[in-house]
Amino acid sequence: MIEIKDEHYIAEGLARKCYVHPKDSNLCIKIGKPEVEVDHLYKEIKYYHKIKDKNLSKFDYPFYAKYYREITTNLGTGFVYDLIRDENNQSISLTLRHYLEMKHAPFKDEVFVEALERLKKQMIQHKIFVGDLRARNLCCKILSDNTIQLIVIDGIGHRDFFPLADWFSYFAKKKVERRFFKAELHSLKAQRALIKRLCSERHEIV
Ligand SMILES: Nc1ncnc2c1ncn2[C@@H]1O[C@H](COP(=O)(O)OP(=O)(O)OP(=O)(O)O)[C@@H](O)[C@H]1O
Ligand SMILES: [Mg+2]
Repeated sequence: MIEIKDEHYIAEGLARKCYVHPKDSNLCIKIGKPEVEVDHLYKEIKYYHKIKDKNLSKFDYPFYAKYYREITTNLGTGFVYDLIRDENNQSISLTLRHYLEMKHAPFKDEVFVEALERLKKQMIQHKIFVGDLRARNLCCKILSDNTIQLIVIDGIGHRDFFPLADWFSYFAKKKVERRFFKAELHSLKAQRALIKRLCSERHEIV
């Protein structure tokens, strides 16, 4: 059994708490909150299972955190994923939401816009869908050449009964573009306005 301590805590969302894996600092363990239905936790895992045969070497870069396995911990069942870290100083990568909320972000807006376009292109090309596309579910990994990669850390999958987008590029493109638009990630201005709106409505987690 893996023993998780307070010092391993990273952050949390509505459904899960995220911890550094005590035995491997490049992995994280996610634990479902007690009030969250178990089915909800497994939705994403099922999709990971479905896409497990995708040829990752064809990706421009690994644009979603890999899922490994389920483990037993002192806090209950845990789910092990890649932990996204910046290349230079190995600190845990912040999310796009963190950067968009900063008064003085260390990157120009064009950098985020380009990274979002690149992510979108890959999702279309490899037919990987993100149901819960939000700025807080995208990590901004800073590379040693001071460029960034956006990596999906949560919300991967879709619930289409008739998954045309899984089969046909035309539908994949439409689906991904629609999702970016609905998530207000088609423009940073729209995204910042959304974050502001949700914060003012006292949503603790945007
Ligand atoms: N693989 C990862 N690498 C780095 N940080 C991570 C990773 N996974 C999660 N985090 C951090 O932990 C936070 C919560 O994790 P996560 O989004 O998985 O929880 P959640 O409860 O499923 O979220 P939501 O409320 O969006 O459903 C993230 O917003 C991010 O700050
Ligand atoms: Mg999340």
